Amino acid sequence: MKRDIISILDLSSKELDEVLEQACRLKRMKKERIPHLLLPGKTLAMIFEKSSTRTRISFEVGIADLGGTALFLNAQDMQIGRGEEIRDTARVASRYVSGVMIRAYRHSTIEEFARYATIPVINGLSDLEHPCQILADIMTIREHFGDRKGLRVGWVGDGDNVCNSLILSTILTGMEITVATPKGFEPPAKLVETARRMGSRVTLVRDPKIALEDAHVVATDTWVSMGTEKEREARLRAFKGFTIDRRLMDLASPDAIFMHCLPAHRGQEVTDEVIEGPFSVVFDEAENRLHAQKALMVFLMQE
Ligand code: CP
Ligand code: NVA
Repeated sequence: MKRDIISILDLSSKELDEVLEQACRLKRMKKERIPHLLLPGKTLAMIFEKSSTRTRISFEVGIADLGGTALFLNAQDMQIGRGEEIRDTARVASRYVSGVMIRAYRHSTIEEFARYATIPVINGLSDLEHPCQILADIMTIREHFGDRKGLRVGWVGDGDNVCNSLILSTILTGMEITVATPKGFEPPAKLVETARRMGSRVTLVRDPKIALEDAHVVATDTWVSMGTEKEREARLRAFKGFTIDRRLMDLASPDAIFMHCLPAHRGQEVTDEVIEGPFSVVFDEAENRLHAQKALMVFLMQE
């Protein structure tokens, strides 16, 4: 039966470890220039309703490294941009390609696509989740700390797609997470409730200082996600006081790392000093998108 990754919870804890171990192997092979053509002749369609730098490049290079081919499809240039139904597009694409990665505004678009597709579907970011980002993030955390059980994550900023997947991932990893957001920007209550029911130790607070106290992983994201641009001014006002600066970073554990999925907005969610500081792992994190997604494609698409 085909498998999809629409949520980070579409992987079990054991599968997550398997994928990340494969990702580390593939990373080593790439560095040592050892060929790893694990998906020869496979094709990945990449459908984008929104902009992308990392997701597009890493999937496109990733499938090429594995011996396959990517097709970049701007949703606006496809018939779905003119109203063709998702369910028809899903069934047609399933006759041509071996897998589909979609970045969509609505999470339900990806769910519908996956329901009708007969090939694996990967969520390349929706309004609700960004599982590929979190795969890379957990890989990066593993590289720094080894075992993740008992690690404390402090999130300061918007309770958005990246934050949501990070919260859900703690069910799989055993990390603890404290999320500080302004009022009205909390992660969805239903998601937090599900996470808690499934064993996540997630705490929601208002004060960034509380979230970052003794944190091993300090993480944030943009205050103005794609699709919320019209709220930009109101958001910039609401997030005042939530910039991760040196003073906040100093509250974290002495071995803390700073993470950001990028793109970053210096002077808004993070200062230049922090993102350029010695504890910042943002470019390792971006690199690991490539290795983690290659492992994910092998997991989903290898026969
Ligand atoms: N982090 C991330 O998904 O980046 P892009 O929007 O550039 O793909
Ligand atoms: N939360 C951001 C992530 C970008 C990778 C957005 O949705 O725009």
